[in-house]
Amino acid sequence: MNKTDNQLLLIFGASGDLTRRKLVPAIYNLLENNQLPENFIVLGASRTNMSDEDFRTSVVFENKFLKKKIESLSEEKIREFADHFYYQDLGSDYDTSYDTLNAKVKELQQQHNTGENVIYYLSTPPALFEPVAKNLKEAGMNDQSNGWKRLIVEKPFGYSLETAKAMNTGIQQYFEEDQIYRIDHYLGKETVQNLLVTRFANSIFEPLWNRNYIHHVEITNAESDGVGKRGGYYDGSGALRDMFQNHLLQIVSLVVMEPPISSAPEDIRNEKVKALKSLRIMKDEETLKTNTIRAQYMESTIDGEKMNGYRQEEGVAKDSTTETYAAIKFFIDNWRWRDVPFYVRTAKRMPTKVTEVVIHFKTPHHNIFHGKQMNNKDNKLVIRIQPDEGILVKFGVKVPGQGFLVERANLDFHYSSLAETKVMQAYERLLLDAMQGDATLYARADEVEAAWEFVDPILNYWKNGEDVRMYGYAGGMWGPENADELIDGIGNWRNPGPNLSEDPGYCVIC
Ligand code: BG6
Repeated sequence: MNKTDNQLLLIFGASGDLTRRKLVPAIYNLLENNQLPENFIVLGASRTNMSDEDFRTSVVFENKFLKKKIESLSEEKIREFADHFYYQDLGSDYDTSYDTLNAKVKELQQQHNTGENVIYYLSTPPALFEPVAKNLKEAGMNDQSNGWKRLIVEKPFGYSLETAKAMNTGIQQYFEEDQIYRIDHYLGKETVQNLLVTRFANSIFEPLWNRNYIHHVEITNAESDGVGKRGGYYDGSGALRDMFQNHLLQIVSLVVMEPPISSAPEDIRNEKVKALKSLRIMKDEETLKTNTIRAQYMESTIDGEKMNGYRQEEGVAKDSTTETYAAIKFFIDNWRWRDVPFYVRTAKRMPTKVTEVVIHFKTPHHNIFHGKQMNNKDNKLVIRIQPDEGILVKFGVKVPGQGFLVERANLDFHYSSLAETKVMQAYERLLLDAMQGDATLYARADEVEAAWEFVDPILNYWKNGEDVRMYGYAGGMWGPENADELIDGIGNWRNPGPNLSEDPGYCVIC
């Protein structure tokens, strides 16, 4: 186990939902697994006027996301955990002098003997990233002479290529790139990291991992929920910015990348950037029109319950043109992937919640078993990110009896079978990595910009292009019918069920 230095974690925007929902439960898990350093405390900061004790009540004692984890603990143990948390009110503005904040940090560092290592966690609206970084620097809080300083920034990282670049150069005026940790919680998922292991720790997949054997790659990210109470944020974002530019392109980069020379952070990140830079950018309207589809979920009745259409959701404009479904077909311009189409889709209000990568292999180049039974019997490798995390290989076997009838069989591995192994939650893993200075699973500036470079023309086309359609789909369905046209000629989307081994087409209305 790597060593974790004593340190203080300062969360900006600490009164927000993320602290309660993700960060505090992650810190609790780290404590429970003895992964926190001996001297460690958390200082929350935001514009809400709260005492230390109010903050503890909000993030520990009355935190519904922590309840299950701590309900069997004695009061004394819960108090012990809560005593790790302190709070500082920043007043009415984040863009202010941080002298008082700095004084509080120093006082806590002395009181708890944490030394001067600090993580600043920016869980604020993105417009505040640069002012917070600037004020930290001006208050001398980025001085590393007696302890390292790291800055974790939450998504969204930019709204476009231009804003992402401005954000990078803005923050980099005050913090060095190696101090900046851009979080993408998909990289914290075990199954996403396992993509690297599947490819580079086995000799049976990698020789086939190229245009000679792979017919196409399909990635699906579906959520059964709608936008819920996040309509205000989501309506200014949409599926492409919210999921595709970051989480899904990160997955794409792991599928596409060349073998890194080692597992060192920069070796892996260098290969990921190269992969993202080889995405063929769609430039002309015709290409954009035939290779992208956007849609919005409509009013529907699921399991007898009436569900809002997207435009009826709280915080969403009545005439919104924000997509809740995006499907993109694209190519990778490099030696390995030339002419292999990638189909990636993401959507809300689908039949089930699932994320998976499907590698579709080519049919054998010389088919000795003729006949219809060979249809749709191509080999597939399904890498299930969530739920029922695991890997499935589909291959043909002979049906017993006369002749050569071929049927599809499954070879599957489910993470749940590793009952002894505790799978770390994404935030838990990522927080621990940042605490230990390991940036492998954080996005570098050039990665983020390369992803935006690919996404920007699509967003511009959707906004300004001529005759751009916004399709509708009934909530609880696999998107608009037109999405099938995208993948036409090579089969259908694999519409997966919640269980890895189920066959395509299985549909659950949850
Ligand atoms: C977030 C998006 O980054 O990821 C949400 O903003 C989305 O809209 C969420 O629901 C999905 O994460 P997960 O881990 O539940 O797949």
